[in-house]
Amino acid sequence: MNELRALEPDFWRAPSAHNTQPWTLTYGADEVAVGWDPARALPISDPTERDLRLSLGAFVECCLIVSADAGLSVAFRPDPGPLRAGFLHGAAQPYRTPFTTADVRARGANRGEYHPGRLPDEVAAGLGGMRRVACRELADLLLAADLHQFGDREVTRELRAWLRLTRRHRRYLLDGLSDRALALSRLESLALRASLALYPALRPLGLPRVLAGASRGLLDYDGDVLVLVGAAGDEVEQGRLLMRHWLTLSGLGYTTHPLSQIIDCGPTREELARRLGVDDPASLLHVARVGRPKAPAAPSARVKEG
Ligand SMILES: Cc1cc2nc3c(=O)[nH]c(=O)nc-3n(C[C@H](O)[C@H](O)[C@H](O)COP(=O)(O)O)c2cc1C
Repeated sequence: MNELRALEPDFWRAPSAHNTQPWTLTYGADEVAVGWDPARALPISDPTERDLRLSLGAFVECCLIVSADAGLSVAFRPDPGPLRAGFLHGAAQPYRTPFTTADVRARGANRGEYHPGRLPDEVAAGLGGMRRVACRELADLLLAADLHQFGDREVTRELRAWLRLTRRHRRYLLDGLSDRALALSRLESLALRASLALYPALRPLGLPRVLAGASRGLLDYDGDVLVLVGAAGDEVEQGRLLMRHWLTLSGLGYTTHPLSQIIDCGPTREELARRLGVDDPASLLHVARVGRPKAPAAPSARVKEG
């Protein structure tokens, strides 16, 4: 299994919430344990570890795709344990997948503007587990969720720890969310840095409303939001499915912009479940707008580069 070490930079192209890249690989004689580093979890904004496990699933899928493309026969065996999701191990045949390492490299979130237009029905129908909603129908929930998020000192503090808003940040090229990945202009990035630095003083004066206002209009166009609905507790498998759907969309020229705050915030998660006719709000696992971007996104940083 040592051959996998050389492939790690491509495994690491997997997406993760706040780009924390929480995964770890621990090499044994015949197997490689897939786990996570608790220092890279998000205990405040992701207390149920939903996004952590989705990210681990996306990582596992990338490991299998990249290994198969390298001609290696590798499979994954779920075996949840302390700080562990399961094991990569040798298999009789390479993982069967339509995706390649080039697809994994080409995928990326895009938080910029999208062209108007809904997903074709046949594309949406192929995305098992995904529910599709018109962007405008969720604009009110996004604003409420943003207000909730930026009104919470601890959530904002945790987000700030993963922001890399200036190239001078010592981890700019390694992890977290850069100004470029967030599609911020220099001025916007400067304003965000300044307002977050002054957050404790400005919070009572209405800063959360100003920060939440930055995404006003984000869903005010003719587009689609995809909501992944699946069993809570099955997030690693669901993360693998999410990764496959993102690769399918990326291959067709679509990108996604996750909006997890809508399901991180209890009241908006419950309201979204009600609007979708879903009984258990905990089964809403991921929310993202999807569409054809007007401009390419800057590639996000990784701790391991090829
Ligand atoms: C489970 C999960 C939740 C995410 N939630 C958000 C989110 O709420 N907002 C956002 O802008 N990006 C979100 N992202 C996207 C990550 O920030 C992104 O994957 C990471 O920065 C790496 O960038 P890349 O996807 O372009 O490679 C999420 C990604 C995952 C896997």
